Amino acid sequence: ARRMIEKGRALHKRTAELFLQCLREDPQGRQGREYLHKRGVSDQVAVAFGLGFAPLQWEFLTKQLVQEGYSPEELERFGLVVRRAGGEGYYDRFRNRLIFPIFDNQGRPIAFGGRVLGDEMPKYLNSPETPLYKKGQQLYGLHVAGPSIREKGLAILVEGYMDVIACHQHGITQAVATLGTALTAEQGRLLLRYSSSILILYDGDRAGIAATEKAGLILTSMGARVQVLQLQDGMDPDDFLQSQGAEQLWKVIDKAPSYFEYRYEQVRQRHGPTSIQSKVASIRELAPDLLAIPSAVEQEATVQWLARQVGLSESSIVEELRSLSQGGP
Ligand code: UTP
Ligand code: MN
Ligand code: MN
Ligand code: MN
Ligand code: MN
Repeated sequence: ARRMIEKGRALHKRTAELFLQCLREDPQGRQGREYLHKRGVSDQVAVAFGLGFAPLQWEFLTKQLVQEGYSPEELERFGLVVRRAGGEGYYDRFRNRLIFPIFDNQGRPIAFGGRVLGDEMPKYLNSPETPLYKKGQQLYGLHVAGPSIREKGLAILVEGYMDVIACHQHGITQAVATLGTALTAEQGRLLLRYSSSILILYDGDRAGIAATEKAGLILTSMGARVQVLQLQDGMDPDDFLQSQGAEQLWKVIDKAPSYFEYRYEQVRQRHGPTSIQSKVASIRELAPDLLAIPSAVEQEATVQWLARQVGLSESSIVEELRSLSQGGP
């Protein structure tokens, strides 16, 4: 198994090289370079993230890598090629796409994502889970952002490949992405090795808001200091940076509420603060967020704050939490 993993690493390293070479030197790669230019990505940042291009060819990797001594079965095990349905042979998974290698936190390529240059579907194609790549254990961009996160004492959690890259391009070097899925506990633990302060900056759409709540709860339960910035009008960090720039983004980041304040504001807007029923509903809805806080002191301080906001006593909120956590109403 160990040798298989070693071979997989070498395979990804070589594949990343081939895609990179294609972006830089192949006539086909030109579309990729133009696309990056159009999206405001400099050569320097493209190199930092190892970006590449997969040509419009069915057997670019398949032929090249078999010639270099890899078996088709190995390529398939690592998700780079797909077996032809009902027939003999294999074809490349990634074709005619801009390639985003996914690196582990030590900077070794372990998977790939590929974006179409137009609006074909699916927009992104990713490596499947392989012996090297478990999606829920990795954070995109961490190999680049890690030192900056430690230095600045803040991690910025975004959704997508291009969000990380746009942040980086604009000097916001501590961004990492969960790549479209909800944050897992494993990803949370990984991120907390770099900083206990985390800003969630997901897309300002319905999916992003739902993912924000999940990630916030997980990170809170791990004792992180969590802040949330929700962008307007369905924008993502890349859109925001392109239209308003980094200075403006830092301005709104500086004003970002804590996760609990953010949740309270959401609940308040939904229920309104005034009626008896809305107070009860608000407390019940916020209970999981309060119960997730591992520090007794922080939990009490948060309950105190909430009590003041809704005009209830701390003791009644505590009592309600106790009955809810024991499977009450
Ligand atoms: P988004 O739909 O928000 O795309 O998905 P994006 O990152 O803003 O893409 P651009 O700006 O149009 O290039 C967020 C992330 O979800 C994953 C990708 O990791 C993407 O970056 N995703 C999305 C997929 O894996 N496949 C898809 O088809 C779409
Ligand atoms: Mn999105
Ligand atoms: Mn997006
Ligand atoms: Mn985007
Ligand atoms: Mn700009």
